[in-house]
Amino acid sequence: MYQATSVIELRQYIQHWKNHGKSIAFIPTMGNLHQGHISLIEKGQSLCDHTICSIFVNPMQFGPNEDFNHYPRTLERDIVQLEAIGCDLIYLPAASELYPDGLEKITQVQVTDLTGIFEGAHRPGHFTGVATIVLKLLNIVRPDVSIFGKKDFQQYRVISKMVEDLNLEVDIIGAETTREPNGLATSSRNQYLSDDQKELASLINRTLKESAASITAGENTFDKLEQRAIERLNQAGFETDYFCVCNVETLEPASPEDRRLVILVTARLGETRLLDNIEIDLG
Ligand code: PAF
Repeated sequence: MYQATSVIELRQYIQHWKNHGKSIAFIPTMGNLHQGHISLIEKGQSLCDHTICSIFVNPMQFGPNEDFNHYPRTLERDIVQLEAIGCDLIYLPAASELYPDGLEKITQVQVTDLTGIFEGAHRPGHFTGVATIVLKLLNIVRPDVSIFGKKDFQQYRVISKMVEDLNLEVDIIGAETTREPNGLATSSRNQYLSDDQKELASLINRTLKESAASITAGENTFDKLEQRAIERLNQAGFETDYFCVCNVETLEPASPEDRRLVILVTARLGETRLLDNIEIDLG
């Protein structure tokens, strides 16, 4: 596996591949890789000739009360995992190259739509940080496809919208969420859960599945269904931030006429904030 730390170095590898007519899949990450990330690399390998993974803990997407300094950094282990799976190139940019004049002076990418709700409302400025770094990385790498996990469904939609709005020439692919055997969505945050909490956390996925089944069976009073789900989660010991049946495109509360839906949920278990979702296609 090749390693590049500067844009110039990275572009040399990429140019070589492009000169040989090879296609490139790009998976941006913040490291601390787990099975979810590995499945994104595998998806890239199934779609393109070469796969590039970046690891960069992006300071711009952390709020003042979020602990950027304590974000888990496990570079050696990450490299071993990427080598093992046959990733072709790892890009490890330095903050000084991506933000040479600091965060204050960098041009910001604000995706107007989709960002004021859910995670955007909970974490002001977060999606501006995500959109800015993703646009920079896409411009540096210029991949044919770039892959994002659908566990962070709103992030996936925000990036797709940015790419559409700014006419970028890249296919954004949403990859299915990987799960523990009990249904819990794979996440770096799961490492903060005790075994008992992990078992309890599977209730999020069960509640999503049961809610999706009720909607598929014809239930369309979504506010009642949401209320039931929130009560169930809260009674079990969660603090639910939101559980919302949405239109899959706009992420606005779904209406009974909508055919393609997604239920977005975020619930806290102790200190750990868990995100999950389920898509529903009513045909
Ligand atoms: O999902 C992530 O890990 C990050 O938000 C991303 C897309 C790598 C941007 O920093």
